[in-house]
Amino acid sequence: MDSAIRKSSSRARRSMWITIGAGVVLLALIGIGVGVGVSVAKKNSSPKSAVANGNAGASTDGSSGGSTSGGSNAPSDGGTVADPNDPSNFSKDARLHKSFYGLAYTPDGSIMPDCGATLPSVIRDVQIMSQLTTRLRLYGSDCNQTALVLEAIKQTKVDLSVYVGNYVEADDNGAAYQRQRDTMKAALQTYGVDHVLGVTVGNEFMLNYLNGGDDPNSAMANTGAAILIADIKDTRDMLTSLNLPKTLPVGTSDAGSYFNTEVLEAVDYGMSNVHAWFASVDAAGAAAWVFDFFNETNVTPAAALANSPKMYIAETGWPTNSSDVAHETNGPGTASVAGLQTFLDTFVCQANSAGIGYFFFEFFDEEWKDALYGGVEGWWGLFDKDRNLKPITIPNCASP
Ligand SMILES: *[C@@H]1O[C@H](CO)[C@@H](O)[C@H](O)[C@H]1NC(C)=O
Ligand SMILES: *[C@@H]1O[C@H](CO)[C@@H](O)[C@H](O)[C@H]1NC(C)=O
Ligand SMILES: *[C@@H]1O[C@H](CO)[C@@H](O)[C@H](O)[C@H]1NC(C)=O
Ligand SMILES: *[C@@H]1O[C@H](CO)[C@@H](O)[C@H](O)[C@H]1NC(C)=O
Repeated sequence: MDSAIRKSSSRARRSMWITIGAGVVLLALIGIGVGVGVSVAKKNSSPKSAVANGNAGASTDGSSGGSTSGGSNAPSDGGTVADPNDPSNFSKDARLHKSFYGLAYTPDGSIMPDCGATLPSVIRDVQIMSQLTTRLRLYGSDCNQTALVLEAIKQTKVDLSVYVGNYVEADDNGAAYQRQRDTMKAALQTYGVDHVLGVTVGNEFMLNYLNGGDDPNSAMANTGAAILIADIKDTRDMLTSLNLPKTLPVGTSDAGSYFNTEVLEAVDYGMSNVHAWFASVDAAGAAAWVFDFFNETNVTPAAALANSPKMYIAETGWPTNSSDVAHETNGPGTASVAGLQTFLDTFVCQANSAGIGYFFFEFFDEEWKDALYGGVEGWWGLFDKDRNLKPITIPNCASP
């Protein structure tokens, strides 16, 4: 298996467990009880060691997407029948509503070195996603994904804008950062920024730097933060050099409890992964858990900083299936379509009303994650891997 995939994915796995660890702290804070904390902490320990052994992975981060394991990017209609000669002429699916603030999206085939992302595949995705939201967030810029998404928006003429991304590695002397900066820059030069909302530098960089287990504001963490801050500054310089018609905000995304204060002071926005599933919360309680965690751990601390960076939920969702029985449940949580429906019903419109910016995780099941890691990892989509809507009812309310 490709080591880059394994690496980024096992890193992502840790982020989930960090969220759990933070969940323990939160539960303690709000006094739910020591017993719960202990059982959550126990669950926290085994996957971490599995990661160390290199055989558990995961990824709710979709850090760089992936080629489908069948190796095919052939578009299926996914409920929208497109006119092959005019991507802007496609039939709408009455089951879909523009209720989501945003969606987390990684095109099929966005992982180096395999790549393989194709314009027809991205066009089909954009046609569907434009019926659910006006905003996407990407995780990286490898495999031309920034250009592909902006080209697809251009050809489909849909009302969709994007937070583009640069997936920074901590240990490659800036190679991944620079490569993506340059492809991103070329895409911005080609397509302009009418459909670009911001530039996210780093995905779970601090989590990865700290190997999942340290204070994000320790002296060691600040050493890592300095690498990321230099890249953030470099990105601002790149954007300035383009003489764009508007100043794009520059932010970062990380695991919920891994925001370093110096990084937050250097960005315009932060995007935070907040997953109730991995905190052993049941579906009925998941939305409330996410709202509380996000407010306490991200919004309140960020608001106290002089620059008050805007905080978003980078990822939140609920898995519908597991490839093995052992991972079908996590405490009282059950991976199920019913669970996803409950989370949709209790999170989406409520977050919209509360003015919370969030990117639902995720648009479609990423088959490569199931093939590599099993468990619930490949089963977080609103749509299955072939872009068929799962048997769910999409909430119908206005997103901000
Ligand atoms: C859209 O595509 C359909 C099916 O190909 C075609 O019948 C229709 O004329 C097209 N509409 C426009 C405005 O081009
Ligand atoms: C992707 O990258 C290539 C090479 O850099 C470029 O020629 C092409 O136009 C880009 N965009 C799309 C949408 O493929
Ligand atoms: C967010 O947390 C702060 C600080 O604990 C609290 O004062 C505030 O009421 C909370 N807001 C919401 C919407 O829960
Ligand atoms: C759920 O996962 C199992 C195991 O991979 C698979 O056999 C089954 O088809 C999946 N169910 C659905 C609805 O995709």
